[in-house]
Amino acid sequence: MDHFNFINSRLHAEDVPISNIVEAVGTPCFVYSRATLERHWHAFDRAFGDYPHRIHYAVKANSNLAVLNVLARLGSGFDIVSGGELARVIRAGGDPEQTIFSGVCKQDWEITEALQSGVGAFNIESEGELESISEIATRLNVRAAVSVRINPDVDARTHAYISTGLKQNKFGLSEERALETYLRAREMPGILIRGVACHIGSQITELAPYRDALEKVLDFAERLAGHAIEVKEIDFGGGLGVRYNDESPPDPEEYARQITEQMRSRGLTIPVAIEPGRGIAGNAGILVTRVHSLKHNEQSAFCIVDAAMNDLIRPALYQAYHEIVEVEKNEEGGHNRYDVVGPVCESADFIGKHRDLSVWPGDLLAVRTVGAYGFVLGSNYNSRSRPTEVMVDGGEFHVVRAREDIGALMNGESILP
Ligand code: LLP
Repeated sequence: MDHFNFINSRLHAEDVPISNIVEAVGTPCFVYSRATLERHWHAFDRAFGDYPHRIHYAVKANSNLAVLNVLARLGSGFDIVSGGELARVIRAGGDPEQTIFSGVCKQDWEITEALQSGVGAFNIESEGELESISEIATRLNVRAAVSVRINPDVDARTHAYISTGLKQNKFGLSEERALETYLRAREMPGILIRGVACHIGSQITELAPYRDALEKVLDFAERLAGHAIEVKEIDFGGGLGVRYNDESPPDPEEYARQITEQMRSRGLTIPVAIEPGRGIAGNAGILVTRVHSLKHNEQSAFCIVDAAMNDLIRPALYQAYHEIVEVEKNEEGGHNRYDVVGPVCESADFIGKHRDLSVWPGDLLAVRTVGAYGFVLGSNYNSRSRPTEVMVDGGEFHVVRAREDIGALMNGESILP
């Protein structure tokens, strides 16, 4: 459920007509809905009921300061993967102590800054990384709380590029390796063992892979108990899918019920942390674009719009489907089945293929469910400035990132003397 609805045939974000936003900021622009972000965060939070839990929003999904701040105000924790994301969380008023540092390649400066700002825990991806963290923590005279990320070798049955829990993926450690790592960790002066972590992939639309992964994680936690290592938290990652087209992913309630039932059936009350990104931000954002021109050839009809693969790369990168709708219903002709394409000089530059639309040049289209992995995956390819980001809050809207200035795109560049 989101808060982008048609009122009198005009698309609105909450109470604001999209066309009013475009009048003020132009196109292309991303529009986010505060109410939708909050609704989804609460849905995850409520779903766990009285089972002890923490929600660490995965910052990578959408790291705009306004998005982070809205979630920080709800008391959310955060999951970060870089020093840059840490800086954003702090700037947005997030609590470093409620922040988990994940990622396969944490650099020394990032570990140092995370420890200095009091980051709550590190999810460990290798033994070498554990040693670096212990060394840096010892030097800073602190102890780093860590969970080791298990790779459970479970197929999340999602796109190969966003599947992370199989042996052939670079993520996590096998149970055997992880056990050795825990045994070393407890001897390390700069380390405190916190729990076990696992994240099997993204856009997961079934519960079974989660169930299988959690069984393995809990079996592993029992093995740790056999070595007198106490697990104080299970960090079960993110990955719950959203509906882009005809998927029917489990809702947060079903997802949480399965996790808590699995915990309770083993008599466990260990706190659970989750790291949802897409589930919170995915359908809290749309991309608004203007039709530049229509072009037909013997085989295809093209609807050429001013947004491109540099603004939304998911269709090109993952063959992802995003629904495209007319911002104002236009009943007067223009009906056709179009490939919706952008200005970038590549045939991969499409937003959607074979879409039935009723449009004329100058009309506005909205690309739905781009609040997660939309703007953040954008680039300046073809020297295009990245679009404006706007957040709607009830009847008001706010520019939360101005359109990039062309001059600024050349900052830091220089020519030879
Ligand atoms: N935790 C970890 C350790 C992760 O690697 C990720 C996502 C998440 C949490 C959040 O997963 P989510 O709840 O958002 O599925 N660019 C791709 C998605 C990449 C996901 C990477 N890791 C896309 O556009 O589909």
